[in-house]
This record gives sequence, structure tokens and C-alpha cells, in this order.
Amino acid sequence: MKKSDAKTRRMAPLQTPTDLGAQATKDISAALNLLLADLFALYGKTKNFHWHVSGPHFRDYHLLLDEQADQLYATTDPVAERVRKLGGPTLRSIGQISRLQRVADNDADYVTPGDMIAELREDNQALASRMRQAHVVCDEHGDVATASLIEVWIDEAERRVWFLYETGRK
Ligand SMILES: [Fe+2]
Repeated sequence: MKKSDAKTRRMAPLQTPTDLGAQATKDISAALNLLLADLFALYGKTKNFHWHVSGPHFRDYHLLLDEQADQLYATTDPVAERVRKLGGPTLRSIGQISRLQRVADNDADYVTPGDMIAELREDNQALASRMRQAHVVCDEHGDVATASLIEVWIDEAERRVWFLYETGRK
């Protein structure tokens, strides 16, 4: 058996049937897996700030960030399962997340509350814009179901941006 045949056979059980075509599976899965890595990374950063925030607005910021972290986490499963519905493989480890994520970690010992809010606002804005790019990929392949899910996730990201923007106003 050729090496490529063995690989095909090993992958075959993971190829959920879809009539969108192999190229659609490849392109949309790639876009969604990148978004998934970003969602996990941003979830981690939002929790990091939720845990480490301090100062006079502690209660507000602490609770807001927990709410936003919950929403980010709740999005991860539908993203991964959408990839599987399309027959693509999705993420398998924290290591893979760290290789794919486009959201920068912030491991600083101390971040001011204002900087936390501003950084998360920018990250969520960038996430919304990457979701729009993924939506274009879905449109190109006529994948209306993924596109429609992405529209909801964009709205949620924009809501997070709105709250972070208003919270961070001087
Ligand atoms: Fe908590």
C-alpha cells in the first residue's frame, strides 16, 4: 500500500458526507479552525483579565469579563462541530491552538484595568473582522449554514465591542 493510500484510508472515517465539495470542506474548515483557535485564545485572555483585574471598578469589570468569557467559550463547540459537519478535522490540543491563534497572549504581571478593557475591545474587533473574512469564504462556496452561524457570532462580537467601548469611556 502506498503511503498516500494509507493516509486516505486513515482519514476516510472522519470525512462526514457533504455535497459542498472537497474544496469547500478544506477552505471553510481552515477558516473556522483559525477562528476556533482565536476564540479559545481570547477566552483565555478574557478569563486572565477577569481574574487579575483590580481597582474601584472591580465588581463591574470582573462580572463583565466573566460574561464575555462565557459567551466566547459557548461559541467554541458550535464552531468545532460545524467543521466536523463539513467533514473536516478540527482542533485537538492547546498546542495546536497556540500555533494557530492570531490573538496575542498577554502574560504581563500587571495590566491596568483601562488597558485590559482597551485590549479586549481591539481583540474582539479584530475577531469580528476575521469572522467577516470567513463569511466571504462561505459565500464563495455557497455554504449558507456556516455563513448564517457566523452572522450570529459577528453580532455577539460586536456586542462585546460595544460594552467594552462604553465601559472604557473616560
Ligand atoms: Fe470567575
